[in-house]
Amino acid sequence: MDSSQGTWYVLRPLLAALFTDDAQRTIFLTRLEERFVSLTDLLLGLYGDRADFAEQFEQILMTAAYAFIARPAVMHALDASRDPRWFQNERMVGGVCYVDLYAGNLKGIRERIAYFQELGLTYLHLMPLFRSPSPQNDGGYAISSFRAVRPQLGTMEELTKLATELRVHGISLVLDMVMNHTSDEHEWAIHAKEGDSDYQGYYLMFPDDTLPKRYEQNLREIFPEQAPGNFTYVPELQRWVWTTFHRYQWDLNYANPAVFNVMLGEMLFLANHGVEVLRLDAVPFLWKELGTNCENLPQAHALVAALNLLIQVAAPATIFKAEAIVHPDEIVKYIGQECAISYNPLLMVLMWEALASGWTHLLQHSMTKRFNIPANAAWVNYIRSHDDIGWGFANEDCAEVGIDGGIHRIFLNRFYTGQVEGSFAVGLPFGYHPRTGDMRICGTTASLAGLEQALQRGDAYAIDLSIRRILAMMAVILTVGGIPLLYLGDEVGTLNDYSYQHDESKSADNRWVHRPFAHEQALAQRHDPTSVAGRIFGNLQRMIAIRKSYPIFAAYNPTNWLNSNNTHTVLFARHQGQQALYVALNFSAYPQSLDLRQFIRSEHVTDLLTETTYKRDEPLTLPPYEMVWLHSIGPTSES
Ligand code: GLC
Repeated sequence: MDSSQGTWYVLRPLLAALFTDDAQRTIFLTRLEERFVSLTDLLLGLYGDRADFAEQFEQILMTAAYAFIARPAVMHALDASRDPRWFQNERMVGGVCYVDLYAGNLKGIRERIAYFQELGLTYLHLMPLFRSPSPQNDGGYAISSFRAVRPQLGTMEELTKLATELRVHGISLVLDMVMNHTSDEHEWAIHAKEGDSDYQGYYLMFPDDTLPKRYEQNLREIFPEQAPGNFTYVPELQRWVWTTFHRYQWDLNYANPAVFNVMLGEMLFLANHGVEVLRLDAVPFLWKELGTNCENLPQAHALVAALNLLIQVAAPATIFKAEAIVHPDEIVKYIGQECAISYNPLLMVLMWEALASGWTHLLQHSMTKRFNIPANAAWVNYIRSHDDIGWGFANEDCAEVGIDGGIHRIFLNRFYTGQVEGSFAVGLPFGYHPRTGDMRICGTTASLAGLEQALQRGDAYAIDLSIRRILAMMAVILTVGGIPLLYLGDEVGTLNDYSYQHDESKSADNRWVHRPFAHEQALAQRHDPTSVAGRIFGNLQRMIAIRKSYPIFAAYNPTNWLNSNNTHTVLFARHQGQQALYVALNFSAYPQSLDLRQFIRSEHVTDLLTETTYKRDEPLTLPPYEMVWLHSIGPTSES
């Protein structure tokens, strides 16, 4: 009998005694037993050197058991009936928005369900909506309670009802699990400030700045302009507190198993209230170790893997989504065992890179090399988010195609802030770091893709090109393997909103330029194909409908990135059995020809977008930023 088996025999009866319902007891214990050895190993690795390990382990399992018992019947039913591949379905299409900016409050979101359905959404990420300090709260990412909705937006009860109503309409609710930190107004932080040593142990505190200075030698600064440094002196405590992001966001101390336990409780609370995807915010930063950059450490991975096992026991309809905006080699390590889905920032930045340069060789090369992830996982493919765009491609990938990554980043930053002759973009600089020269970019999809500038100039051709750029990026995320995620507002071409500059709570943070209010006028024009909003919305809606009616688009069907021999085009294929789909896009402002004979074997292919049939040996010419989605049935040469 190994030690974890021994522990199981001790813990099993304790857990079993918590249940009054026999069927529920069996389900819980069966799921736990299946994962018990892995879970024990992970937790031993994290906390095994503590004298109170057995007690802490028991507490953690109790938290999972109590949450399971409290789980509503409808959620248990979802756990039991859910296809394990549900998030990989071709019907998955995501949208993300701020509750207040897009719809006023939770009631407003409810009223927009019909609209979400009209667009075709099945996944809705509502940006942080829990209580947070005012006026500064990092767009809600400083959380004062994981269990109370900000009163201006609604109540927890309304949120639960909304989750149910969304589910009834085929839409999964996605919320952030801001797990790296709490706000300094969270009750744990308040107790800590009052001198409670248990709660002080929830955070990382130092009596003087000796250790912080040593840590600091290897740490990045995430917001070098607004929040330089990673530590904040808190006068009430007369201590330095670890604050990776802003001074009011206190990093949690996961080396303390009590923190693991309470955060598990908070996650399961949300899962029990109907949240189906938990977006694990800032996941690389969870574990700190002197002498390292305190990002992506093995313990951070172990933490997420252990939490995921416990979620699979207590609320398996729920999945984790990784937010790891780090080097591509590191991102993939969160996918699979730890998180079922993950943002794909590499595809996002490389699409913008390709549009700026007019060349697709870096995009094609990096995607060929890095797109494949475990078959039980999926990328979340997006064009932009509520955050800035940072050029997180790998320097080694650049070198492999003859590009100097550092110089290329300077070009891209200049391009997207309009400092390059011929640039179509209107973006703002973000996070300039004088020591490293690093900089990132803010702007809405439409403004970065040229619409703002074109409308200002009243240039019909430039307007047309900008719309095609937007649609080309939308087409990529809708056809490549994964869940496409749209930042809502982009579907009607919403431009940058400069009003944040007059709002004291926002003016220091340029990211607000691309977090505009819903553009009601544009939304009203969405059915008018002669309007800009109507062109984007209409085409997007049609592409979504096509995606949803062809199972070949499901994330579990492979994506093969192909070398088209034309370095201004993007080309990849999807496969399902004998079927293949070739997506070819021109990412340049000039017509491009393509020869797909080497890939396509069947005599004819049909473009799903136009229903035009092409002969296999017909040369293909794509106008600027145009595309084809060629469907063929029969053997292919590259599969
Ligand atoms: C994530 C969020 C970002 C926030 C940060 C700190 O990266 O996307 O908006 O500022 O975490 O919570």
